[in-house]
Amino acid sequence: MSYKSFPKVELHLHLEGGAPPAFIAGLAREKHIDIAKIFDERGNYIYRDFDHFLKVYEAACTTLQGPEDFRRLVLAVLEESAENGVVYSETFLSPEFCGGGDVAAWSDYLAAITDAADEAQRKMDITLKGIITCIRHFGPEQAKTAARCAAETKGDFITGFGMAGAELVGRPGDYAYSFDMAREAGLRITCHAGEWGGPEMVADTIRDIRPERIGHGINAYKDLALVDRIAEQGIVLEVCPGSNVFLNAVKSWKDHPISPLMERGVKVTVSTDDPPFFRTTMTKEFDMLHRTFDWDDGVFRTLNKTALDAAFCDAATKKRIAELLEAA
Ligand code: ADE
Ligand code: ZN
Repeated sequence: MSYKSFPKVELHLHLEGGAPPAFIAGLAREKHIDIAKIFDERGNYIYRDFDHFLKVYEAACTTLQGPEDFRRLVLAVLEESAENGVVYSETFLSPEFCGGGDVAAWSDYLAAITDAADEAQRKMDITLKGIITCIRHFGPEQAKTAARCAAETKGDFITGFGMAGAELVGRPGDYAYSFDMAREAGLRITCHAGEWGGPEMVADTIRDIRPERIGHGINAYKDLALVDRIAEQGIVLEVCPGSNVFLNAVKSWKDHPISPLMERGVKVTVSTDDPPFFRTTMTKEFDMLHRTFDWDDGVFRTLNKTALDAAFCDAATKKRIAELLEAA
């Protein structure tokens, strides 16, 4: 049995991390960029460990050089998502990879990205919203640049601000200024934490960044008092089980804390993170959760509802997507 055609809501997807390797290889050929070393003999992204993954990711991003490349990227990524039943998706976008953080340059990229999102909506019936994301290992000063881009371009498409990258670099408080700037501009807040950091990193993130959602957050399960606080505060976890298993943040599917977290009352959702890098799709995530925890349609409908409730979009979009989910 497969959940391929089951409608899905995805909240945690890095746009560049969704790039099919053949798409990136094609761009590299067009531009005569030699990044052969990031592919294996079968054309997949190579992988050694998380730090190496970030290097491969950044090397792949060197092929994305202008708004037109991002327009094509959005369509390539959303084609994969729609193929796997995704009807609503939120994607992390980093101005660092789109014009180096300059607001005017970023605006040109954003125009191309929203153009592609509109085309995908028309052709594939999939809705996309964007979360501007600073990169933690680029440091707090660059994070302010990303936050400025976010504040200047907040709107119907750019609805959130977040942080990804190497979680063990710096402390959450180092980035509080950027998150405050984004929040004051009216953006919704999410932040990666507890993928590599322990429960104290999750607790510090909640205290200093005050996110509505946490990217991963899985290591919170090592401190049950913290788990209860997350549940009470209604903070939503964007859990990416296939990513966690692939990157060895969790030993195996059956050891993944998503099920105990949900049973203890935490609002959990399911996403792919960087699907081709981690050899996953939303279909595979649902299929593996079904196989591992015996989750059925009822649980998956609850996951979708939690995700849609926590989505960074307007009420009219939520209503339209809810109707789509109910009709399925
Ligand atoms: N950027 C892309 N994927 C990421 C992940 N899993 N963790 C942190 N930063 C990322
Ligand atoms: Zn992520």
